[in-house]
Amino acid sequence: MPEKPRWIHFTGIGDSEVGYISVAQGNTHVPFPIERVYWVYFTPDYIERGNHAHKQCKQILIAVSGRVEVELENALGETFTFLLDTPDHGVYIPVMHWRKIHMDQNAVLLCLASEKYFEEDYIREYEVFKGLK
Ligand code: TYD
Repeated sequence: MPEKPRWIHFTGIGDSEVGYISVAQGNTHVPFPIERVYWVYFTPDYIERGNHAHKQCKQILIAVSGRVEVELENALGETFTFLLDTPDHGVYIPVMHWRKIHMDQNAVLLCLASEKYFEEDYIREYEVFKGLK
């Protein structure tokens, strides 16, 4: 059975008077060593991002600001939807999950990744992804 995507809660340290800090340490709050961090922003509302799967790279996506919808499909055809709208939660995406991402224009999506960027890790054609099961 493929590993399932799941919520990760990042405890907010602080209180409403002073604000909060959330922390992501590799192998502690996150189930892999963090090799890369990137963020996505200024995405027009009508744009669909993602449309790929990763062979080796595991990721955690966090909407540090705004609202992001993440639709996932695994190799068995099971689908999962996560609405990210709070900076103290992220979604863990195991390997081999096709993702579609819709972001509000003012949203900032932070990604913690287990691998450095390498294009060969991507599957960018849905038919190829479906054919691999
Ligand atoms: P991509 O991962 O396809 O973004 P999204 O799924 O959000 O649409 O990446 C978009 C472009 O950015 C693509 O040309 C590869 C490049 N890129 C890097 O050079 N390094 C990176 O770490 C990432 C994530 C993307």
